[in-house]
Amino acid sequence: MTQLLLWAVLGYLMGSIPFGMIIARVMGLGNLRSIGSGNIGATNVLRTGNKPAAALTLLFDAAKGAIAVLLARALAQEDAAQIAALAAFLGHCFPVWLGFKGGKGVATFLGLWLALDWRVGVACCLTWLVAAAIWRISSLGALVAAAMSAVWVLSLTDGSALALSIMLTVLVFWRHRANLVRIKAGTEPKIGQS
Ligand code: G3P
Repeated sequence: MTQLLLWAVLGYLMGSIPFGMIIARVMGLGNLRSIGSGNIGATNVLRTGNKPAAALTLLFDAAKGAIAVLLARALAQEDAAQIAALAAFLGHCFPVWLGFKGGKGVATFLGLWLALDWRVGVACCLTWLVAAAIWRISSLGALVAAAMSAVWVLSLTDGSALALSIMLTVLVFWRHRANLVRIKAGTEPKIGQS
């Protein structure tokens, strides 16, 4: 129990590093809060017009989720890996350093799934890519990928991460409330647009 708590804290702290904010600041792109959607993720970094910065944000936000899982699995056991995954996601969405106002967790979601079970991770990435290619809307790609994740867990694995996949999906939808309203209204910007 103490060990699981430890991995929850470590996962949270890793997930809470706001790489998008840091990269935008270091590369002189300004404050993400006053750009586009105001989100701290790669999609919004892309709205600055700086593709390398967006790619780096995607990479680092995914890596922190993956590393939290891989560390917990290497030093503890599988339930610690799942706890670290959820905690890293929550850390990204509700980072103490930003007054608990963080991102939407999509890159971290993809990274933690790639580490938890690469088949589910790859399936989620492909789902995002296909949905994003069809609609050209990043948030819609994320929502479709999250919605499909439980299906991938059930069809590609032993299902032991089903509860986690449902929790993460609910959280992804919750964090995309404003995007859902804009998608419904037809005002959600396409990828790369502000
Ligand atoms: O990665 C977050 C994405 O799904 C939506 O971002 O900035 O369009 O709200 P944004």
